[in-house]
Amino acid sequence: MCGIVGVLGKHEAAPILVEALKRLEYRGYDSAGIATINDKRLDRRRAVGKLVNLSDLLVHDPLRGKSGIGHTRWATHGAPNTVNAHPHKAGPVAVVHNGIIENFRDLRSELAAAGLAHETDTDTETVAMLVHHLMEQGQSPVEAAKSAIARLEGAYALGFLFDGEDDLIVAARKGSPLAIGHGDGEMYVGSDAIALAPLTDRITYLEEGDIAIVTRTTLDIIDAHGNRANRAVRTIAIDSTHVDKGGHKHFMAKEIAEQPAVIGDTLRHYLSAAGGGLTLPQPEMDFTQYDRLTLVACGTAYYACLTAKYWFEQLAGLPVDVDIASEFRYREPPVPARTAAIFVSQSGETADTLAALRYCEGRAAKILSIVNVPESSIARESDLALPIHAGVEIGVASTKAFTCQLTVLLLMALKAASDREAIDPARLSDLLSHLRGLPSTINNTLELNEDFRKAAYQLSSAENALFLGRGMMYPLALEGALKLKEISYIHAEAYASGELKHGPIALIDEKMPVIVMAPRDALFDKTVSNMQEVMARGGKVMLITDAPGAAAASEDTWLTLTLPQVDPILSPILYAIPAQLLAYHTAVAKGTDVDQPRNLAKSVTVE
Ligand code: AGP
Repeated sequence: MCGIVGVLGKHEAAPILVEALKRLEYRGYDSAGIATINDKRLDRRRAVGKLVNLSDLLVHDPLRGKSGIGHTRWATHGAPNTVNAHPHKAGPVAVVHNGIIENFRDLRSELAAAGLAHETDTDTETVAMLVHHLMEQGQSPVEAAKSAIARLEGAYALGFLFDGEDDLIVAARKGSPLAIGHGDGEMYVGSDAIALAPLTDRITYLEEGDIAIVTRTTLDIIDAHGNRANRAVRTIAIDSTHVDKGGHKHFMAKEIAEQPAVIGDTLRHYLSAAGGGLTLPQPEMDFTQYDRLTLVACGTAYYACLTAKYWFEQLAGLPVDVDIASEFRYREPPVPARTAAIFVSQSGETADTLAALRYCEGRAAKILSIVNVPESSIARESDLALPIHAGVEIGVASTKAFTCQLTVLLLMALKAASDREAIDPARLSDLLSHLRGLPSTINNTLELNEDFRKAAYQLSSAENALFLGRGMMYPLALEGALKLKEISYIHAEAYASGELKHGPIALIDEKMPVIVMAPRDALFDKTVSNMQEVMARGGKVMLITDAPGAAAASEDTWLTLTLPQVDPILSPILYAIPAQLLAYHTAVAKGTDVDQPRNLAKSVTVE
């Protein structure tokens, strides 16, 4: 079934439109496209196949402008190809359509008699041509759209955009649903609330025969009888978009479950066929060009960068600075000439990260980004954007994007190690082989879900919690604390295990659960000492480890959760799963809003 989206916004429309279309993928489609108005000029990009093809097109041939419409096409009239993909255009008119215009052949004949030839096999093009024809006869865009709609028979949800009109969308529905979303100085159009969920929960559903004239600040609705109509503005509970959750109770649960599949997609994108090597784009990914890296991000993406620091420095001998984006540019850091700056962002729209990227323009040798939205602002302003292919992530708490970011960062570190001849080829091949097996290991870990649900239930009564980790488990402790606090609202902090004695141990008592993330690696024994310091003071330790770790140190713990054993280099990606599951089940036990936790937005586009 086709999907329609539209935005009259304050930010670049292209990433918003593609993101909204991704949320309509569940409807099934065979091609996609968007059109925007930039400097009053209407332009469009279309691609057959999956949305990733449109995204890739937009990376190389971006569309600017803050007003736009988009469409995922499930072919009815005309083969699934680029020519027949929406938006369709005739002169100054672009249109997206869901439904079937039953009298389109008569209309085509009428237009042909007026000397207007069609270029496609679709009924939708006829609609654009009819509106254009009426405008040629002197009608305004709105009048022409209304006159054309009056001629249509059949089912339609329509969205029109007009050359020269960057604050106007005309929408109409008859037989196919269409919703208007109310933003803050922005307005949206969507086939349903699912498409608009990340943008707004304030929705006006058009009724049969309604025509909506939309600007950023007004919504005028004319009903089937030509009278002005007032339609309710409803606040849509996220549950109403259940259909998009693939049968899961929450988007977050679905996205946690998707990780074996999407990490597999990420690996397939950057690793050539089995046994082959890394296929990261050259020359930007030639790490002999750089003497140091600067990694900048926010939140979970920042913890991915902290983890990557261990990988780049241990595997490639490449010094890495890591910064929180909101602090970075105010620090006014020097950026030495042979520095590559890497910006990690799921949304690609985080204002602080974008501002940090702009600080590096003209300073860093290369500006690279790792994003989940290839046509986003951060991607577009980078010398090279690496997509993580996690698929749309709707839950505010980042899960699959985090593990896909880590996967790309590890691949980059391995490439750097290879370029700088810092790794033995056999070791490289060994690690790539372990990486290829990681989706299956994660799948096995997800089967421990019930263990984590029970542990989370016990955690849910706590008011505070500490997470501990050493080495590359320290960023994972930080991530575990963030996940827990952002969706369960339990105050959680993370410390490098060795830091406990330098203050935080004062917090330890029987009411303070301490979650220790520690595979049996080279630092394990030191972490066990920290655990014993906690337990000696009545603290409750939840140990997350592997079988050797459980055998060595689970005697006095409150709880021990055992994961499959992996190469220590891969541990950070695997240990993200318990962090996610603990947070998720704790939030469910507490009844908080898992997917849209209070005060949080999925993409923080303000500084
Ligand atoms: C993580 O679960 C949060 N949603 C938040 O910290 C997020 O990682 C941060 O806002 C960065 O977002 P970005 O990756 O889209 O830039």
